[in-house]
Amino acid sequence: MRVLVTGGAGFIGSHVVDALTERGHDCFVIDNLSSGSPDNLPDGVKLFEVDVCDKSAVAGVFDEVRPQWVCHQAAQMSVSRSVREPQFDAEVNVLGLLNILTQAHRCDAERIVFASSGGVLYGDVSEPAPEDHPADPISPYGITKWVGERYLQFFAREHGLTCVALRYANVYGPRQNPHGEAGVVAIFCQKMLAGEAPTINGDGKYIRDYVYGPDVAQANAAAFEADVPGKFAAYNIGTGHPTDVNQLAATLRAACQQALAEQGSDVTVPDPPHGPARAGDLRSSLVDAAKARQELGWTPQVDITEGLHRTVDWFAHRASL
Ligand SMILES: NC(=O)c1ccc[n+]([C@@H]2O[C@H](COP(=O)([O-])OP(=O)(O)OC[C@H]3O[C@@H](n4cnc5c(N)ncnc54)[C@H](O)[C@@H]3O)[C@@H](O)[C@H]2O)c1
Repeated sequence: MRVLVTGGAGFIGSHVVDALTERGHDCFVIDNLSSGSPDNLPDGVKLFEVDVCDKSAVAGVFDEVRPQWVCHQAAQMSVSRSVREPQFDAEVNVLGLLNILTQAHRCDAERIVFASSGGVLYGDVSEPAPEDHPADPISPYGITKWVGERYLQFFAREHGLTCVALRYANVYGPRQNPHGEAGVVAIFCQKMLAGEAPTINGDGKYIRDYVYGPDVAQANAAAFEADVPGKFAAYNIGTGHPTDVNQLAATLRAACQQALAEQGSDVTVPDPPHGPARAGDLRSSLVDAAKARQELGWTPQVDITEGLHRTVDWFAHRASL
């Protein structure tokens, strides 16, 4: 199939490109490189350096590629920026999505898969939330993911475009940008490998459902290939396994220490200190991915310990280049 991946030069998008390419599909990428990099893309994948908000440029890409499948990963994904600049957030996440949906419909694409978010839809939950847990997004970023899913439902009902929303838990892994606010694993890896101590917000007992990026990419591939019931479906993509930031930091510290020793470095990774709690942080966020297992045949393959070690190895290798 010919697949257009928006945000394909980013963290999750580039793993989606890898997964689809390995399955024999032809991938094309739209990315404005605001946080992504062409270095994340395998050789031979055509990159259109285009902003999803640029209507005519997006239309031109669809005319050239005529994709059968569209994977929409591009987004403004900073919650704090969405609070400061809700209009910019909506331009990228709502109007950008509408550009993609409109072109997908115009060019007779068969299916679109959309990167949604479990955490921002379900809020604080102490047990893994199923898809029918009430959605109550509180940030403009969360509102755009909620609205995005409503637009998918509209295009499915009105135009017969098959639309799948994947509600990711906390995604981590190789290629995650350590300069964003969300990627705690990437931020901690970069600091610890430099021998610095990242600060743990508050008491560190903030529970998250960490899911490995390449596993999320396999979920995207399954969302294209599986027979989904109806024209619109939403699936949680996570592990349901709780990890708090203190546990995460301890595992990463040991893995970074080992990676540094293997590189011949005698740097000691300091114990991360605790700082003030960050206003608005959820205490606990977990998703139940039973529906993805049943209907997409997807289950995560890489557990948190293995995933963190692979991520540290990737960052350590990159830092040593
Ligand atoms: N990382 C997570 O834990 C997580 C959790 C839930 C949902 N998501 C969603 O997954 C998707 C991918 O996130 P990621 O973690 O890979 O982030 P990322 O920043 O690595 O990837 C986003 C990509 O989109 C590109 N982009 C941003 N704005 C664009 C625009 N206006 N036009 C074209 N390209 C643009 C960026 O350059 C980048 O390559 C996003 O939609 C995000 O909201 C991520």
